[in-house]
Amino acid sequence: MFDQEKSLVELKIKTYLQSEGIDDCNLEFRQIPFSGEWGLAVPLFPLAAAEARLGKKISVPQRAQELAEGIQAYLGDDLGGFSHVEAVKGYLNLFFSTATYAQRVIDTVLEQGADYGRHPGRDKTVMVEYSQPNTHKAFHVGHLRNVILGGSVCRILEGAGYEVIRANYLGDIGLHVIKWMWNYMKNHAGETPDEDRTHWMNAIYAEADQLFQDPENEAEVRALYARWNQRDPEIIALWQKTRQWSLEGFDQIYTQLDESFDRLYFESEVEESGARLVDALIQKGLARDERPEGPVIIDLDEILGTEDEYRVLVVLRSDGSSLYSTKDLPLAIQKFAEYDLDQSIYVIDVRQSLYLKQIFKTLEVMGFEWADKLHHLAYELVNLPGNVTMASREGTVVLFDDLVREATRRAKTIVEEKNPELTEAIKHEIAEAVALGALKYTMLARDNAKVVTFDWDAALDFNGQAAPYIQYAHVRAGSILRKAGQSLPPQAVFPDELHKAEVDLIELMTRLPGDVLRAAEEYRPLIIANLSFEIARVFNDFYNTCQVLNAAPDVRDYRLRLVAAAQQVIATSLKFLGIKAPSIM
Ligand code: ARG
Repeated sequence: MFDQEKSLVELKIKTYLQSEGIDDCNLEFRQIPFSGEWGLAVPLFPLAAAEARLGKKISVPQRAQELAEGIQAYLGDDLGGFSHVEAVKGYLNLFFSTATYAQRVIDTVLEQGADYGRHPGRDKTVMVEYSQPNTHKAFHVGHLRNVILGGSVCRILEGAGYEVIRANYLGDIGLHVIKWMWNYMKNHAGETPDEDRTHWMNAIYAEADQLFQDPENEAEVRALYARWNQRDPEIIALWQKTRQWSLEGFDQIYTQLDESFDRLYFESEVEESGARLVDALIQKGLARDERPEGPVIIDLDEILGTEDEYRVLVVLRSDGSSLYSTKDLPLAIQKFAEYDLDQSIYVIDVRQSLYLKQIFKTLEVMGFEWADKLHHLAYELVNLPGNVTMASREGTVVLFDDLVREATRRAKTIVEEKNPELTEAIKHEIAEAVALGALKYTMLARDNAKVVTFDWDAALDFNGQAAPYIQYAHVRAGSILRKAGQSLPPQAVFPDELHKAEVDLIELMTRLPGDVLRAAEEYRPLIIANLSFEIARVFNDFYNTCQVLNAAPDVRDYRLRLVAAAQQVIATSLKFLGIKAPSIM
């Protein structure tokens, strides 16, 4: 934002430093938080410390201060955009006039629009594997945090300039699929899915799961599995058809969540290559074949000489059937064969941490030099009120569409209260944006490694840290701008005396680009979730304390631009979270 001023002054500082015998140094510019003025601080300690390391007999703090003062004197009155300069405690502080700074921030936000906060491409590719539901089964709340987190991380990585490949990995084979097909053939032959496909698929699955308790049925299911394994054409055809129904069902959900994938991987696709890989691992002496008494294992601690750190990874069952590991090894290899990846991220719940550590280590031991690019993005579970764990593989199941329906119903009553005059269709559209926003925000405004406790009142709170509150600030900003009528003043001069809420708003807006980088680096949408809330909160302070429409013309002009910029930054940060910013609520 202040690149021009920065490079000019940087050049001058470097010229001065050269005369002090310091060549080729890196200068750091830090933003000074507002304390009557904004500015940039350049610490001189690193340079002084470097001199000391080269054997110069100096006191580092003293030398840093001496350099700061030297630069100050050298710059004299020629400050190129800065209003004044101070040399304090080894720092060179360069201050802007408040009016110049405020105007520059707002001009930049409005000029860059939706691009403000986003960074130029950096020619690095990241694959994010997320969602990974099993076909022929439900999509439940346990899957929701995963898909919401993965989707937001993708958006943030893109914002930080990465090329992102969204990958999904579907569990399309295994006992659950065979159970489903068995029940379908036996009790539902010829039926076709309902409107809500996932729900329908799950009903048949749940029923199958019940019937499976009966040993006679179990025997039939096992026999069917054998037919699948022999690739019986009739069974394969049914499998493909029904898998497609599942995928269509998931697509309905992804569309609703505003997610989509670039590459679908299937467990069935890597099963055979996995079995071959296990053979190769046995040949190489990395895996130990204990069949038929035991499974095929990789004793990582033994290989690495570690103790109780990596333990034993089972890669094939004693009956020769595959496990997650059998497929995850070839899957990782396939990803790198297909794409030139700088990072490969796995969004998988925290309970799989040891397992993934083992997979990554095994790939490293196998000699894949990209093994250090694998990263497990772990997240904790979601609790429903009453502490019901919405686990992915066991426990109580709350279906996705039931949750969304309930959230939308609740949001609708609020919308109805606030805006009874809207048409039914618009009310529904807003209610859905609010409902999904509430679900997403709840999942994202929490550290990945912490349990989310889902609570309706907190999620839909119009007055607390929740999506509707932030969305509502966006709506308020929009309504001020609409009431102002004519188009936004193309320019406005800011005063040197700003209201506290104005200062805070400007300060928060400048944080977006840096926060996007940090959130990308740490895979933490939480950072953006917090920023969006802070901006909404301060915007509401501003709204309650500063006149806009009724202010004097020059005040009104700059405040309108401030409102428009705040609205933009709220919309952009919500977008990183995958949350819609409605214009009415
Ligand atoms: N489909 C699996 C499940 O529902 C999760 C797969 C996770 N991804 C992976 N590469 N192992 O439990």
